Amino acid sequence: MRRVVLTSADPDATVPVVATSLLEVRNLRVRFVTLDGTVFAVNGVSLRVKAGETLGLVGESGSGKSVTSLALMRLLPSQPAARVDGEIVFDGVDLGALPEKQLRAMRGRDIAMVFQDPMTSLNPVLSIGEQVEETIRAHRDIDRDGARARAVELLGLVGIPEPERQLDRYPHELSGGMRQRVMIAMALALEPKLLIADEPTTALDVTIQAQVLELIKKLTADSGTAVILITHDLGVVARMTQRVAVMYAGKIVETASTGELFAAPKHPYTVGLLRSIPRLDGDIGSLRPIEGSPPDLRGEPTGCPFAPRCAWRLDVCWERMPPLVPEGRSAEERSAGEAPAEHLIACHNVVTPTEVELARPDRPGFRPAPPPEATT
Ligand SMILES: Nc1ncnc2c1ncn2[C@@H]1O[C@H](COP(=O)(O)OP(=O)(O)O)[C@@H](O)[C@H]1O
Ligand code: SF4
Ligand SMILES: [Mg+2]
Repeated sequence: MRRVVLTSADPDATVPVVATSLLEVRNLRVRFVTLDGTVFAVNGVSLRVKAGETLGLVGESGSGKSVTSLALMRLLPSQPAARVDGEIVFDGVDLGALPEKQLRAMRGRDIAMVFQDPMTSLNPVLSIGEQVEETIRAHRDIDRDGARARAVELLGLVGIPEPERQLDRYPHELSGGMRQRVMIAMALALEPKLLIADEPTTALDVTIQAQVLELIKKLTADSGTAVILITHDLGVVARMTQRVAVMYAGKIVETASTGELFAAPKHPYTVGLLRSIPRLDGDIGSLRPIEGSPPDLRGEPTGCPFAPRCAWRLDVCWERMPPLVPEGRSAEERSAGEAPAEHLIACHNVVTPTEVELARPDRPGFRPAPPPEATT
């Protein structure tokens, strides 16, 4: 396999190169060419995941979370329908340069995925046993009996009762929760280095959701598997992750350790997201959706995409997309060799700690800058 050497700091790249990262994504862009025009779905995402860590990827529906994860696995439609740019380095290997055959071997074995709806990923005409055993045999030199024994073990591990009997059943004969457990068993069968779980419990009822999430947490911790957990549920992020990246309009707008992000959010969108969930102390009064709707992703974005919904916006926000940088440090200062910071924000006018509580700017006489056309 081709080893890539990561070169020195690029002032536009927002995530510092860290040798211990399992996954490094740099400036990922995805555009879809449709009859309606070009959809700018992912607009320069950089992120990294360390071995064994769980990163939460959050954001409203349509913010580009699923497209990002599909791009990581190189599972998007090929050109010209989808145009993907950027660099994806997994375990020292440049995935963009990897031939399809090697990539296929890597999927499942090194990087596994669990999707929202297991019915779309399980084959309806094959029994559960055939599918789990097939997954194991595709990547491991193991005979049929060995694969079956391992399948029984795995189904037991994910809490499926009487696993031996379930092997002969078909996906439609199982409940949603059981099917999702089968998907997790298949994803973790090979102890991958990275699991990408895209809204893995959204289709399940609340009590089952909690069980399935606990299961993912336990099994990945046991096997040292890193996780990218995609969700729009900040409660899930709080329970499951060590770090969070908040996405808006195909960009990461803030990233920090989970504790830091909840305690001291700095991006207006993150503050809005945190206000939009019921508080842990049960104060339902604080449940408040963010006003306005997500931007139309057709057309090249100019300025900060959150500007139309943002109470903190300045004139510059309409014109220039802020880079994702540590607060108070410019890209130049960072590329001059400063230590990598864990809390990065893409905002021209970050929220102060008092403003987080108030959820509005607290500056005498401050008014959000009107759109450029309104000032003439
Ligand atoms: N195959 C596709 N063709 C055109 N647009 C797409 C395609 N897949 C996703 N999109 C668009 O890309 C944007 C991001 O979608 P997605 O990543 O699914 O959002 P999320 O997972 O955060 O809800 C959305 O505007 C969506 O409509
Ligand atoms: S202050 Fe400006 S840059 Fe920051 S989120 Fe608001 S509009 Fe975007
Ligand atoms: Mg999605």
